[in-house]
Amino acid sequence: MKVLILGVNGFIGSHLSEKILTETDWDIYGLDISSEKIGNVIDNPRFHFLEGDIDINKEWIEYHIKKCDVVLPLVAIATPLTYVQDPLRVFELDFEANLAIIKQAVKYRTRVIFPSTSEVYGMCTDDEFNEETSNFILGPTNKQRWIYSCCKQLLDRVLWAHGQKSGFKFSIFRPYNWLGPRLDDIESTKEGSSRVITQFIGDVIHGKPIRLVNGGLQKRCFLYIDDGIDCLLKIIENKDGACDSKIFNIGNPDNNMSIAELADEVKAIFEAHPLAKEHGFSDNIKIEKVTEEEFYGKGYQDVSFRVPSIKNAKETLGWTPKHDFKSAMKLTVDWFIQDYVKKNPGKTKQAA
Ligand code: UGA
Repeated sequence: MKVLILGVNGFIGSHLSEKILTETDWDIYGLDISSEKIGNVIDNPRFHFLEGDIDINKEWIEYHIKKCDVVLPLVAIATPLTYVQDPLRVFELDFEANLAIIKQAVKYRTRVIFPSTSEVYGMCTDDEFNEETSNFILGPTNKQRWIYSCCKQLLDRVLWAHGQKSGFKFSIFRPYNWLGPRLDDIESTKEGSSRVITQFIGDVIHGKPIRLVNGGLQKRCFLYIDDGIDCLLKIIENKDGACDSKIFNIGNPDNNMSIAELADEVKAIFEAHPLAKEHGFSDNIKIEKVTEEEFYGKGYQDVSFRVPSIKNAKETLGWTPKHDFKSAMKLTVDWFIQDYVKKNPGKTKQAA
């Protein structure tokens, strides 16, 4: 199989590439604007990489969509601060650029595996979000936070419509707060623009307080990247076409933690970590409360809880997540500490 991954140097793209190259005989054709996360795979003869831009290298992309069996368009902005601060960029990249990819895939009949998001359900009040029955509840237009959710939702619907109209083959997956090595760039935490786990780790390393937006009572279900990638690989395999026209929540309902509990866990891991202690990262870690407006500015609205139903993935794919919250957090925080020390030898805790 020839797999095209756009955004191959991202968190999901880089882990997926490692897994494909170790566990299958497939070839990967990958595009990204940089390559720092794919050092482990870049020299593999089955990994064909172009350093390029989805908005610029259009001919390369079209050629490879035509040539490959399946395309995963993983290029997207996925950080809430950007939804609020630069919503048009989110629209251009997450919606417009990806719509063009989907149109080409439809033209060449290349199967699409599309990264939707748990955010499509918005402020849904169901105890468990179900792919077939849960409603999507988004806030008003002036709450720009929902532009990402809305972009992804519309692309989900476009794919669905193509499937209905012409039997076009696609699968949609919805990650729920995946975590693990290489999640976000630790330096982006200086502007507060990372997702929560990298943000907390970066804050501690840079000597800043961990900030709990609106007190941190809101909850998320955290899934370790290896579990997510196991599931994704099964979707790409698509045994007996079982995944065609299917939507899969990929999350871990058992790892349902409040953001305040997450902060306590990050603090505890740093305080027990020999390398973090040696570099002074563990000293005097502070946790403080901030309002959503202080943190994000206007235009933000939060999700208080989101628990996935993973019945679809369990029954169709025989998949269940394995990593509990504590082990997932330990592996993640440990990787970030080691990586930071390796890249910044001799640097100790930096004053804010
Ligand atoms: C994220 C992103 O929208 C997407 O990357 C993704 O599709 C989705 O989750 C997912 O991974 O499922 P969200 O979970 O709201 O959405 O984003 P985070 O930035 O990780 O924030 C989680 C919670 O922590 C929010 O309630 C946020 O307000 C809070 N937070 C964040 C803090 O309390 N402090 C911080 O420093 C950062």
